[in-house]
Amino acid sequence: VLVVSSCMENKKPLVIGHRGAMGHETENTIASIEKAMEMGVDMLEIDVFKIKSGEIVVFHDDTVERLTDGEGAIESYTLAELKALTLEGGHKIPTLQEVLDVMGGRTQLNIELKGRNTATDVNTMMEAAVKTGKWKSDDFIISSFEWDELRAMRALNTKVRIAILTEGDPLGGLVIGKDLNAEAINPSFKRLTAKNTQKIKEAGFKIFPWTVNEPQDILQMKRLGVDGIITNYPERIE
Ligand code: G3P
Ligand code: CA
Repeated sequence: VLVVSSCMENKKPLVIGHRGAMGHETENTIASIEKAMEMGVDMLEIDVFKIKSGEIVVFHDDTVERLTDGEGAIESYTLAELKALTLEGGHKIPTLQEVLDVMGGRTQLNIELKGRNTATDVNTMMEAAVKTGKWKSDDFIISSFEWDELRAMRALNTKVRIAILTEGDPLGGLVIGKDLNAEAINPSFKRLTAKNTQKIKEAGFKIFPWTVNEPQDILQMKRLGVDGIITNYPERIE
């Protein structure tokens, strides 16, 4: 009797909480991060910018209008000004340091460098976090669509795990991926096919697609055998 194995479908990908667990709490807030950890995610994904007063803050958009009661470019704010803004649910914009302190190395952290000139400070903060003894270097993975930021990060830190974010053809990330000795390609799940998945794997990269929320899409990603799934709804990945 020929038994056709479907082992690909059985592989459990890492559960990566998107902006914390944004399906449940206001994105990129301490509440969202705590919720994702409570839900037992393997990794959290957050977005960061460097602001005018020099801090690295956790925020997704270039401007504050969509998410807060303020207006203007996030990078033009001081921390005191940003802390005066309120997010949905009464939450405040956290700094990366606040997130590192709350997490204490309990869960892996994917820091997406959204803004420019973030690599140096983020690297310094990761190194300081490791020195506290709570975090390991490998708890962190740095991703970005701004591949120059990833180049800057690699120049500062030869060991840090790097993921290449792609929006179009995921195979477009392979050359820089090799160049930077990246661990993963993080493609839009919509652009992932059996063929390009195979090619990415053959090239030696892990695959962490974003942002996969619908059950049929989650199933499809599992069938393709991806290594992790970035999702707003961690409870949907079984
Ligand atoms: O890191 C994956 C995903 O978060 C990238 O898109 O717009 O949600 O930051 P975006
Ligand atoms: Ca992101």
